Amino acid sequence: MPISYPLPDTIDPSRLPRHIAIIMDGNGRWAKQHKLQIALGHRAGTENLREIIRNCSDIGVKALSLYAFSTENWNRSKSEVDALMQLILDFFDSEIDELCEKRVHITILGDKAGLPDTQRVTLEAAEQRTAANDGLYLNIAVNYGGRAELVRAAKALCAEVQKGSLSLDQIDEQAFSDRLYTGGMPDVDLLIRTSGEMRLSNFLLYQCSYAEFIFPEKLWPDFHVPDLHECIRVYQSRDRRYGARRAEE
Ligand code: IPE
Ligand code: IPE
Ligand code: MG
Repeated sequence: MPISYPLPDTIDPSRLPRHIAIIMDGNGRWAKQHKLQIALGHRAGTENLREIIRNCSDIGVKALSLYAFSTENWNRSKSEVDALMQLILDFFDSEIDELCEKRVHITILGDKAGLPDTQRVTLEAAEQRTAANDGLYLNIAVNYGGRAELVRAAKALCAEVQKGSLSLDQIDEQAFSDRLYTGGMPDVDLLIRTSGEMRLSNFLLYQCSYAEFIFPEKLWPDFHVPDLHECIRVYQSRDRRYGARRAEE
Protein backbone atom coordinates (compact mmCIF):
# COMPACT_ATOMS: atom_id res chain seq x y z
CA MET A 1 0.00 0.00 0.00
CA PRO A 2 1.31 3.49 -0.80
CA ILE A 3 1.84 5.76 2.18
CA SER A 4 -0.87 8.36 2.47
CA TYR A 5 0.09 11.76 3.81
CA PRO A 6 -2.58 13.78 5.55
CA LEU A 7 -2.08 17.54 5.64
CA PRO A 8 -0.13 18.62 8.73
CA ASP A 9 -1.84 20.99 11.23
CA THR A 10 0.49 23.77 10.12
CA ILE A 11 -1.43 24.02 6.82
CA ASP A 12 -4.82 25.68 6.48
CA PRO A 13 -6.81 23.44 4.09
CA SER A 14 -9.05 26.37 3.11
CA ARG A 15 -6.11 28.39 1.71
CA LEU A 16 -4.33 25.86 -0.44
CA PRO A 17 -2.65 27.10 -3.62
CA ARG A 18 -5.07 26.39 -6.44
CA HIS A 19 -2.31 25.87 -8.98
CA ILE A 20 1.15 24.56 -8.12
CA ALA A 21 3.91 24.55 -10.75
CA ILE A 22 7.11 22.58 -10.23
CA ILE A 23 10.41 22.91 -12.08
CA MET A 24 11.80 19.48 -11.30
CA ASP A 25 15.50 20.32 -11.32
CA GLY A 26 18.59 18.57 -10.02
CA ASN A 27 18.46 15.09 -11.55
CA GLY A 28 21.93 15.51 -13.09
CA ARG A 29 23.51 16.59 -9.82
CA TRP A 30 21.72 13.76 -8.00
CA ALA A 31 23.20 11.23 -10.43
CA LYS A 32 26.65 12.73 -9.96
CA GLN A 33 26.31 12.65 -6.16
CA HIS A 34 25.41 8.96 -6.35
CA LYS A 35 28.07 8.22 -8.98
CA LEU A 36 25.40 7.04 -11.40
CA GLN A 37 24.78 7.66 -15.06
CA ILE A 38 22.68 10.70 -15.83
CA ALA A 39 19.80 8.56 -17.15
CA LEU A 40 19.50 6.95 -13.71
CA GLY A 41 19.23 10.41 -12.17
CA HIS A 42 16.30 11.12 -14.45
CA ARG A 43 14.75 7.77 -13.62
CA ALA A 44 15.08 8.52 -9.91
CA GLY A 45 13.33 11.79 -10.72
CA THR A 46 10.21 9.93 -11.84
CA GLU A 47 9.98 7.76 -8.75
CA ASN A 48 8.65 10.49 -6.46
CA LEU A 49 6.21 11.76 -9.06
CA ARG A 50 3.44 9.33 -8.22
CA GLU A 51 3.28 10.37 -4.54
CA ILE A 52 3.44 14.08 -5.37
CA ILE A 53 0.65 13.84 -7.95
CA ARG A 54 -1.46 11.61 -5.74
CA ASN A 55 -1.09 13.96 -2.80
CA CYS A 56 -2.05 17.04 -4.80
CA SER A 57 -5.11 15.15 -5.98
CA ASP A 58 -5.98 13.96 -2.44
CA ILE A 59 -5.63 17.33 -0.72
CA GLY A 60 -7.68 19.16 -3.35
CA VAL A 61 -5.17 21.22 -5.34
CA LYS A 62 -6.93 22.18 -8.60
CA ALA A 63 -3.96 22.16 -10.99
CA LEU A 64 -0.41 20.82 -10.90
CA SER A 65 2.02 21.74 -13.69
CA LEU A 66 5.25 19.76 -13.99
CA TYR A 67 8.15 20.85 -16.18
CA ALA A 68 9.41 17.64 -17.77
CA PHE A 69 11.24 18.77 -20.91
CA SER A 70 11.89 22.29 -22.17
CA THR A 71 12.39 23.48 -25.75
CA GLU A 72 15.98 24.19 -24.65
CA ASN A 73 16.54 20.62 -23.40
CA TRP A 74 17.02 19.48 -27.04
CA ASN A 75 20.49 20.99 -26.64
CA ARG A 76 21.54 18.04 -24.44
CA SER A 77 23.31 14.96 -25.81
CA LYS A 78 21.30 12.52 -27.92
CA SER A 79 21.64 9.79 -25.31
CA GLU A 80 20.27 12.04 -22.55
CA VAL A 81 17.39 13.23 -24.74
CA ASP A 82 16.61 9.61 -25.67
CA ALA A 83 16.60 8.61 -22.01
CA LEU A 84 14.20 11.44 -21.14
CA MET A 85 11.90 10.55 -24.03
CA GLN A 86 11.83 6.92 -22.92
CA LEU A 87 10.98 7.95 -19.35
CA ILE A 88 8.03 9.96 -20.61
CA LEU A 89 6.65 6.82 -22.27
CA ASP A 90 7.35 4.68 -19.21
CA PHE A 91 5.64 7.20 -16.95
CA PHE A 92 2.41 7.18 -18.93
CA ASP A 93 2.46 3.39 -19.37
CA SER A 94 2.76 2.78 -15.67
CA GLU A 95 0.57 5.61 -14.31
CA ILE A 96 -2.27 6.17 -16.73
CA ASP A 97 -4.67 3.62 -15.20
CA GLU A 98 -4.32 4.98 -11.69
CA LEU A 99 -4.53 8.58 -12.91
CA CYS A 100 -7.78 7.70 -14.66
CA GLU A 101 -9.14 6.06 -11.52
CA LYS A 102 -8.40 9.26 -9.61
CA ARG A 103 -10.27 11.23 -12.29
CA VAL A 104 -7.10 13.22 -13.12
CA HIS A 105 -7.40 15.38 -16.24
CA ILE A 106 -4.14 15.40 -18.22
CA THR A 107 -3.08 18.30 -20.42
CA ILE A 108 0.22 18.41 -22.27
CA LEU A 109 1.77 21.87 -22.29
CA GLY A 110 4.06 22.32 -25.27
CA ASP A 111 4.43 21.50 -28.93
CA LYS A 112 3.52 17.84 -29.34
CA ALA A 113 4.08 18.05 -33.11
CA GLY A 114 7.80 18.50 -32.46
CA LEU A 115 8.06 15.18 -30.59
CA PRO A 116 8.88 11.73 -31.97
CA ASP A 117 5.73 9.92 -33.16
CA THR A 118 5.60 7.38 -30.33
CA GLN A 119 5.74 10.07 -27.66
CA ARG A 120 3.21 12.25 -29.48
CA VAL A 121 0.73 9.39 -29.85
CA THR A 122 1.11 8.35 -26.19
CA LEU A 123 0.63 11.90 -24.93
CA GLU A 124 -2.38 12.51 -27.16
CA ALA A 125 -3.94 9.25 -26.02
CA ALA A 126 -3.47 10.23 -22.37
CA GLU A 127 -5.13 13.59 -23.01
CA GLN A 128 -8.05 11.99 -24.83
CA ARG A 129 -8.55 9.27 -22.26
CA THR A 130 -8.71 11.74 -19.39
CA ALA A 131 -10.49 14.61 -21.18
CA ALA A 132 -13.81 14.11 -19.40
CA ASN A 133 -12.25 13.74 -15.94
CA ASP A 134 -13.15 16.36 -13.35
CA GLY A 135 -10.38 15.80 -10.78
CA LEU A 136 -6.91 17.34 -10.55
CA TYR A 137 -5.71 19.12 -13.69
CA LEU A 138 -2.32 17.53 -14.25
CA ASN A 139 -0.26 19.48 -16.77
CA ILE A 140 2.92 17.92 -18.08
CA ALA A 141 5.17 20.33 -19.94
CA VAL A 142 6.98 18.50 -22.73
CA ASN A 143 8.79 20.36 -25.51
CA TYR A 144 7.48 23.43 -23.71
CA GLY A 145 8.78 27.00 -23.90
CA GLY A 146 7.02 29.96 -22.29
CA ARG A 147 7.93 32.39 -25.05
CA ALA A 148 6.78 29.97 -27.75
CA GLU A 149 3.49 29.61 -25.86
CA LEU A 150 2.99 33.39 -25.86
CA VAL A 151 3.74 33.66 -29.57
CA ARG A 152 1.31 30.82 -30.26
CA ALA A 153 -1.45 32.57 -28.29
CA ALA A 154 -0.79 35.84 -30.14
CA LYS A 155 -0.98 34.03 -33.47
CA ALA A 156 -4.24 32.32 -32.48
CA LEU A 157 -5.78 35.71 -31.65
CA CYS A 158 -4.53 37.23 -34.92
CA ALA A 159 -5.97 34.33 -36.91
CA GLU A 160 -9.37 34.80 -35.28
CA VAL A 161 -9.33 38.54 -35.97
CA GLN A 162 -8.33 37.87 -39.57
CA LYS A 163 -11.17 35.39 -39.92
CA GLY A 164 -13.60 37.88 -38.41
CA SER A 165 -14.63 35.66 -35.49
CA LEU A 166 -13.00 38.03 -32.97
CA SER A 167 -12.73 41.83 -32.90
CA LEU A 168 -9.69 43.79 -31.66
CA ASP A 169 -11.81 45.13 -28.77
CA GLN A 170 -12.43 41.61 -27.56
CA ILE A 171 -8.70 41.00 -26.98
CA ASP A 172 -8.12 41.39 -23.27
CA GLU A 173 -6.15 39.50 -20.61
CA GLN A 174 -8.85 36.86 -20.33
CA ALA A 175 -8.96 36.30 -24.10
CA PHE A 176 -5.17 35.99 -24.14
CA SER A 177 -4.95 33.58 -21.24
CA ASP A 178 -7.73 31.45 -22.77
CA ARG A 179 -5.41 30.80 -25.75
CA LEU A 180 -2.56 29.51 -23.59
CA TYR A 181 -2.10 25.77 -23.07
CA THR A 182 -3.52 26.33 -19.59
CA GLY A 183 -6.67 28.08 -20.87
CA GLY A 184 -9.49 27.88 -18.33
CA MET A 185 -7.19 27.00 -15.41
CA PRO A 186 -6.32 29.30 -12.49
CA ASP A 187 -3.00 31.20 -12.61
CA VAL A 188 -0.06 29.67 -10.80
CA ASP A 189 -0.20 30.48 -7.06
CA LEU A 190 2.95 28.62 -6.02
CA LEU A 191 6.02 27.92 -8.13
CA ILE A 192 8.57 25.49 -6.71
CA ARG A 193 12.00 24.95 -8.25
CA THR A 194 14.13 22.34 -6.59
CA SER A 195 17.93 22.20 -6.42
CA GLY A 196 18.45 25.80 -5.31
CA GLU A 197 18.45 27.30 -8.81
CA MET A 198 16.52 30.56 -8.85
CA ARG A 199 15.22 31.15 -12.34
CA LEU A 200 12.16 30.39 -14.42
CA SER A 201 13.97 28.82 -17.39
CA ASN A 202 11.11 29.80 -19.73
CA PHE A 203 8.34 28.15 -17.67
CA LEU A 204 4.79 29.54 -17.53
CA LEU A 205 5.85 33.16 -18.01
CA TYR A 206 2.31 34.55 -18.25
CA GLN A 207 0.72 32.29 -15.65
CA CYS A 208 3.33 33.05 -12.96
CA SER A 209 2.81 36.82 -12.93
CA TYR A 210 1.68 36.78 -9.28
CA ALA A 211 2.98 33.39 -8.20
CA GLU A 212 4.89 32.95 -4.95
CA PHE A 213 8.32 31.43 -5.67
CA ILE A 214 9.96 28.89 -3.40
CA PHE A 215 13.40 27.42 -4.11
CA PRO A 216 14.10 24.39 -1.91
CA GLU A 217 17.73 23.26 -1.85
CA LYS A 218 16.84 19.59 -2.25
CA LEU A 219 17.54 17.96 -5.59
CA TRP A 220 14.37 16.77 -7.33
CA PRO A 221 14.78 13.00 -6.70
CA ASP A 222 15.06 13.78 -2.95
CA PHE A 223 11.89 15.89 -2.88
CA HIS A 224 8.93 14.13 -1.29
CA VAL A 225 5.44 14.91 -0.01
CA PRO A 226 6.62 16.36 3.35
CA ASP A 227 8.80 18.78 1.35
CA LEU A 228 5.79 19.75 -0.74
CA HIS A 229 3.81 20.36 2.46
CA GLU A 230 6.62 22.53 3.79
CA CYS A 231 6.46 24.61 0.58
CA ILE A 232 2.70 24.99 1.02
CA ARG A 233 3.23 26.07 4.64
CA VAL A 234 5.73 28.73 3.57
CA TYR A 235 3.38 29.81 0.76
CA GLN A 236 0.61 30.34 3.32
CA SER A 237 2.91 32.51 5.43
CA ARG A 238 3.49 34.90 2.53
CA ASP A 239 1.56 38.15 2.31
CA ARG A 240 0.03 38.32 -1.16
CA ARG A 241 -0.84 41.95 -1.69
CA TYR A 242 -1.22 42.19 -5.47
CA GLY A 243 0.06 45.76 -5.38
CA ALA A 244 -2.36 46.94 -2.69
CA ARG A 245 -1.64 47.82 0.97
CA ARG A 246 -2.40 45.41 3.75
CA ALA A 247 -5.71 46.17 5.52
CA GLU A 248 -3.94 47.22 8.76
CA GLU A 249 -1.53 49.66 7.07
C1 IPE B 1 16.05 18.41 -14.46
O1 IPE B 1 17.26 17.91 -14.03
C2 IPE B 1 15.38 17.50 -15.43
C3 IPE B 1 15.35 17.99 -16.81
C4 IPE B 1 15.87 19.09 -17.23
C5 IPE B 1 14.69 17.15 -17.75
P1 IPE B 1 18.64 18.34 -14.69
O2 IPE B 1 19.07 17.28 -15.63
O3 IPE B 1 18.55 19.71 -15.25
O4 IPE B 1 19.56 18.33 -13.41
P2 IPE B 1 20.85 19.24 -13.16
O5 IPE B 1 20.41 20.67 -13.23
O6 IPE B 1 21.84 18.89 -14.22
O7 IPE B 1 21.30 18.83 -11.79
C1 IPE C 1 14.45 23.45 -16.62
O1 IPE C 1 15.63 22.93 -16.09
C2 IPE C 1 13.73 22.42 -17.42
C3 IPE C 1 13.18 21.29 -16.70
C4 IPE C 1 13.24 21.07 -15.41
C5 IPE C 1 12.46 20.35 -17.52
P1 IPE C 1 17.04 23.07 -16.81
O2 IPE C 1 18.01 22.44 -15.88
O3 IPE C 1 16.97 22.58 -18.19
O4 IPE C 1 17.22 24.67 -16.85
P2 IPE C 1 18.54 25.56 -16.85
O5 IPE C 1 19.38 25.10 -18.01
O6 IPE C 1 19.23 25.32 -15.54
O7 IPE C 1 18.03 26.95 -16.97
MG1 MG D 1 18.98 21.54 -14.43
